[in-house]
Amino acid sequence: MSVPGIRDEILKARAYVAGKTIEEVKRDYGLTDVIKLGSNENPYAPFPAARQAMIDEIERINEYPDASFRDLRAMIGSRFGRDAASIAIGHGAGGILETIAATFLRTGDEVILPTQSYGLYREISKVAGAVVREVALNEHYTIDPDAMREAITDQTKLVWLCNPNNPTGTIIDVAAYERLRDALPPNAWLVVDEAYAEFAAEENLPATARDLDTHNVIIVRTFSKAYGLAGGRIGYAVARPQLITVIDTVSEPFNANRIGIAGARACLSDDWDVIQSTRARICSSRSYLEDALVRRGLTVTPTHTNFVFFESRFDAERLADVMLRNGVIVRSAAAWGYPKHTRVTIGTEDENETFLQTLDNALVQLAEE
Ligand SMILES: Cc1ncc(COP(=O)(O)O)c(C=O)c1O
Repeated sequence: MSVPGIRDEILKARAYVAGKTIEEVKRDYGLTDVIKLGSNENPYAPFPAARQAMIDEIERINEYPDASFRDLRAMIGSRFGRDAASIAIGHGAGGILETIAATFLRTGDEVILPTQSYGLYREISKVAGAVVREVALNEHYTIDPDAMREAITDQTKLVWLCNPNNPTGTIIDVAAYERLRDALPPNAWLVVDEAYAEFAAEENLPATARDLDTHNVIIVRTFSKAYGLAGGRIGYAVARPQLITVIDTVSEPFNANRIGIAGARACLSDDWDVIQSTRARICSSRSYLEDALVRRGLTVTPTHTNFVFFESRFDAERLADVMLRNGVIVRSAAAWGYPKHTRVTIGTEDENETFLQTLDNALVQLAEE
């Protein structure tokens, strides 16, 4: 039965499809050992100071957090050479993206987004009543900012750019980013979602932070990936202070919780060094995994993230299902329009070995079917 009173725009949106949890897979498939390489989380977290800070913070959970998130904003700001006024905190990068959509979009506005990218951009834009213009990735599975630039019209309000891109792991051409940035009409904004930026080499990424005062650019980042706080739900925007004030006005008050905030503060202070070494460890496992997949005759797209996007000759949904039944959660890229591609998150060294063994068995099984 339909729900009376719902806005028409919402009827056009689809719910975000999250990856399966370990608990779900254990229950549904009767398994005791399951590894999750499906949601691009950090396998080494929580980090020690963050863990302790979050445990300690439990004692204050009856109190609302400091609604201005002053300390954390100042700590993040200093990493970008800016002060607290340039940072907005939200309930994950997802919460920040949603607030950005609510800040800018009204019915009939146009947004431009890459077809094969993080799915939330499309749905939050539709919920706001925007007209979605999609631009396909190029043949290298990379977002083409020039093609996005060509889609700009007078009605364009937001351009959603995921860099590095999920699910393909690729990064955009810096010069093409600059052309896109420079082509925005005066009322349009470029939202650069850098959820995976910590895993990319800095010299390969556009220096977006330099553009915040001179162009309509917003950076979105998260503590869910490199910092290992996906369950703590802390994301942030970096933008010019006037826009941050507006974002804070639109978003709900207390839109981040005490536990997550405590964890994030520890990540940027006492855990900083261990997080940097873990990041290097994940990047070295990434090279190992890329090589191992290539050696198996699979086609690997060079990645700048904590996941690898690869192609086999088999149906990716079937491959993911066989892997799942054997206790390894990976993500088929069929829903993004890549029926033979799989996305696997880089796990611990042991998890990566288990993944490779399970993959070998699955490939043999699929070849025999
Ligand atoms: C590109 C991208 N942006 C944003 C998010 C959302 O992150 P958060 O956990 O901070 O909401 C994700 C999560 O996977 C992502 O891949």
